[in-house]
Amino acid sequence: MDTYEKIIGLAKRRGFLWNSFELYGGTAGFYDYGPLGAMLKRRIEDIWREMYVIEEGFYEIETPTIGIEPIFVASGHTRGFSDPMVVCCGCDSAFRADHLIDGIVETPDALPAPEIKRLIDEHGIKCPQCGKTGTFGEVSSFNLMFRTAIGPGTERVGYLRPETAQGMFINFEHLFRFYREKLPFGVTQIGKSYRNEISPRQGVIRLREFTQAEAEIFINPRDKTHPKFSAVGDTILRLYPASQQEGGSGAGVVGGTGGADGGITEIAVRDAVNQGIIAHEFIAYHLVLTNLFLERVGIDPARLRFRQHQPDEMAHYAIDCWDAEVLTDRFGWVELVGIADRTDYDLTSHTTHSKHDLSVVLEYDTPEQVERIVVTPDMGVIGPRYKEKAGKVLAALKNLKEEDFSGDEIKVEVDCETIAIPRDLVEYKTIIEEVRGEKIVPHVIEPSFGIDRVIYAALEHSFAEEIVDCETRTVLRLPAEIAPVQVAVLPLLTRDELIEPALKIVQMCRRSGIFVSYDDGGTIGRRYRRNDEIGTPFSVTIDYDTLDDDTVTVRNRDSMAQIRVPVTKLVETIHEMLRDPTKFIIQSAQ
Ligand code: GLY
Repeated sequence: MDTYEKIIGLAKRRGFLWNSFELYGGTAGFYDYGPLGAMLKRRIEDIWREMYVIEEGFYEIETPTIGIEPIFVASGHTRGFSDPMVVCCGCDSAFRADHLIDGIVETPDALPAPEIKRLIDEHGIKCPQCGKTGTFGEVSSFNLMFRTAIGPGTERVGYLRPETAQGMFINFEHLFRFYREKLPFGVTQIGKSYRNEISPRQGVIRLREFTQAEAEIFINPRDKTHPKFSAVGDTILRLYPASQQEGGSGAGVVGGTGGADGGITEIAVRDAVNQGIIAHEFIAYHLVLTNLFLERVGIDPARLRFRQHQPDEMAHYAIDCWDAEVLTDRFGWVELVGIADRTDYDLTSHTTHSKHDLSVVLEYDTPEQVERIVVTPDMGVIGPRYKEKAGKVLAALKNLKEEDFSGDEIKVEVDCETIAIPRDLVEYKTIIEEVRGEKIVPHVIEPSFGIDRVIYAALEHSFAEEIVDCETRTVLRLPAEIAPVQVAVLPLLTRDELIEPALKIVQMCRRSGIFVSYDDGGTIGRRYRRNDEIGTPFSVTIDYDTLDDDTVTVRNRDSMAQIRVPVTKLVETIHEMLRDPTKFIIQSAQ
């Protein structure tokens, strides 16, 4: 059994994850979150909200998960959002064509369809379903969006959104007004997105319905300095830049073979920006924030890297993208987060398609005095003389510069023809004008988190098996703040005199907002193990001493050390330990 199998086994057995629609045989690419999984997910999302919504001040919005077709025509998803597909003629199964040649080339997803087909044939790749070779047809392109019809009939085409981002872009005008017409500002959305994956065979890593937490940060393209960059500039990150990958040891994609440290540079982000490894401060700041979030939810820093996309692998809307990737036992390096510079791609494209100008005027702090020439042609003469071309002559004259008026004639280009206009037919003068601001299309920096993958990675990186008292103890060393159950309350024995105070403690904890489970079934040792396996950081045991001195035992999941705490101080102590588990160690040493 590999780690993935062990974790999925535990997750199913203990109520974290279940295959969706299992009663009817299930289907790949969908998972349900059970009671513990849903709680874990909420806690991780809450930390994300705390960091992005509260600390960064990026308000959260909520838009429909279905979008109408013009949105995705403008965003490029109807054209560019597809994966290469190949069908086996032997068994009619469809596969991601590039996944069939994983390990043969570094970046199979960047290859054109005929090249993928050539490699499949050349390497005699077997059909993973029926095992035959030479049965694959041509490689085609499969659009990943789920298409639907809105209302009766089929006139109004809709799509389940493939990313939450578009709901934020198409609300840009409202948002800009909300943020009092100043840049930069950020907006966030946490919600479901959908991708009709061709043949998802990677369990929770590749879902057809998944949760994204995305922030879109609209910036002035002329100013990519981040206001808080100086505070994070010394942070050391593990970077795997595109330049290192060409001669490096792996592509770092799901299922890739990238070595644990091959090509990874540990560098302060300030130096990375100064050396041009990271393009600018906004991207660098969000790499740091992502790093903080991932470590806070339990990702092992030694199994985390930031990999820059190769130019031919970038999404259609991005000019630069870094993936936060984690090393997993079964799938190699897996992307959890993408941090992309989407430039003005989306706003410009929505401007073109909606015919609604999404550029903004950024007011200068103090208006600028700008010299401008005003051209006044004698249209009484120019009109009849140049007839149907007169309008274009007028437009060309208005675009001239001061030096163009130096001779006896003024020359303008109209429809590839040079027209000479007598100087005395055109008057011009220079004026000083006050310019209050500049018209720009904001650029977008986007950190995009795949929450389901973060959950899986947190489970895998916190999973441990160790021998205790000649038995294997399975423990999820989840950070206390994401553990689904925060405290287990356990009467030592199933006796009324211990159950009664135990239930009072349950009530006391619940009233103070601590999520508690009560368990009185089986030996105390078995109950500790049950709670270790689901990551409960603290257990409170009520025994006969409790009846004498009103104290209880608090046991730490990781060290298994125990301390005695007065019942009157229990709630306060637990809150302190949940905020900072090292408090347990300090207390037990006293
Ligand atoms: N919005 C980026 C993504 O969905 O991958």
